[in-house]
Amino acid sequence: MPAWRLRDFHDDDLDQAIRVWDQSRHEDEPAPVFPISEVMAAARAKQPAVVAVVGHELVGMAVAHAQGERAWVLLVALAAHWRHQGIGSSLLAELERRLRAAGVRRISALLPDSATGATALQNSGFQARTGLTYYEKPEQTGADAGLLAAVGGRVMPSGLWDAVAGMEREKQIIERDIVLPLSEPELAGRYGVTPPKGVILFGPPGTGKTSFAKAVASRLAWPFVELFPSRLASDTSGGPAAALREAFTELAELVAVLLFIDEVEEIAAARGDLAITTGHGVTNELLKLIPGFREHDDRLLICATNSVRSLDPAFLRPGRFDYVIPIGPPDTAARTAIWQRYLGPAAGSVDLPRLVRASDMFTPADIEFAARKGAQAAFERELIHRDGKPATTEDYLTAIAGTRPTLTERTIRDFHEDIGAFSRM
Ligand SMILES: Nc1ncnc2c1ncn2[C@@H]1O[C@H](COP(=O)(O)OP(=O)(O)OP(=O)(O)O)[C@@H](O)[C@H]1O
Ligand SMILES: [Mg+2]
Repeated sequence: MPAWRLRDFHDDDLDQAIRVWDQSRHEDEPAPVFPISEVMAAARAKQPAVVAVVGHELVGMAVAHAQGERAWVLLVALAAHWRHQGIGSSLLAELERRLRAAGVRRISALLPDSATGATALQNSGFQARTGLTYYEKPEQTGADAGLLAAVGGRVMPSGLWDAVAGMEREKQIIERDIVLPLSEPELAGRYGVTPPKGVILFGPPGTGKTSFAKAVASRLAWPFVELFPSRLASDTSGGPAAALREAFTELAELVAVLLFIDEVEEIAAARGDLAITTGHGVTNELLKLIPGFREHDDRLLICATNSVRSLDPAFLRPGRFDYVIPIGPPDTAARTAIWQRYLGPAAGSVDLPRLVRASDMFTPADIEFAARKGAQAAFERELIHRDGKPATTEDYLTAIAGTRPTLTERTIRDFHEDIGAFSRM
């Protein structure tokens, strides 16, 4: 047999690594404690990860996850023809050397009985502990992961709500009208509060409509499914109306779901205003589908639009949507909070009120962009001078001057008119 050698994992190894992982699992083995996605993420983050190679072929791999003085071996895998030759033990020794160098004192592993790697662990001085049971909390709130993936859904990470900076008024309204009745259904029911099933968010581009929809899913821990009007047209041979019907049918199997339709005016504009590709057959279809959607518990439809005035009036009637909520331009307090969020370490060295004043017509998205440009300018200066000076107000004012504000007098006037004409909350 040709000699094998050890080296650090590279990103290029990913495909081969997955193949080796696959090969080293027995058919009847229980699901691994650390799923492949977690193992590969740790490998790519050099947590550390070591591979054994013969020529260009990857034949073995060991990955750990270290935190402070503690590390877990996430994987010891060997290609089918390379077992029983001491590669596993060498991989572990190499991995251990790296862990010790990083200050790790305790190293553990959690493997199914008889898994590949068990022998290598024993040969490397690991002792099996018995009498323990591995506990695991199932991941999702009822939704079947395979089904969810099939409809393009995701479970949002927690914490998205807190990541929406400022916007206190909008946050209060959305929390009161949407989040609380849905997260406390029994209490709401006792007081005769009906949880909402459909909501429209409207406002100028970049004000955070999509962010709010995701944040609500995050708060509720419901899967988030986004439906793209622009894709419906090309989706199936049956045309956009059939594609829409199919999407709603698939969703019906999920236990709980937040369905988000962005730029809903593309499929729900007043007759005559619709794009030629969609036509108003799709608007009628959507109008027909909403009542069925509303019949189920634990379902929320959020539609977002920049142009609420162009929506079909039938679409906006109360029976379909419980609330129509404006998401407006950020006021001074909100802009301050959003700047603070995106300034990061620069928050300590710049004149924040000046940046807030200078970004009067900015949306949160504009602020995010200007903050990135400002940080980039400070970073580039430091690359040249290497004098450790922090970012300056000037860096950010220049970035603001170079960013075209999304908001205009006109969009703001229209928005206020729309609030008068359409908002319901
Ligand atoms: N309150 C906020 N705090 C921090 N970042 C925000 C906030 N609101 C929006 N952002 C950021 O601004 C960007 C645009 O936000 P988002 O996509 O939610 O806006 P939108 O209203 O959906 O825009 P569009 O109408 O163009 O779809 C995102 O990167 C988002 O993270
Ligand atoms: Mg959006």
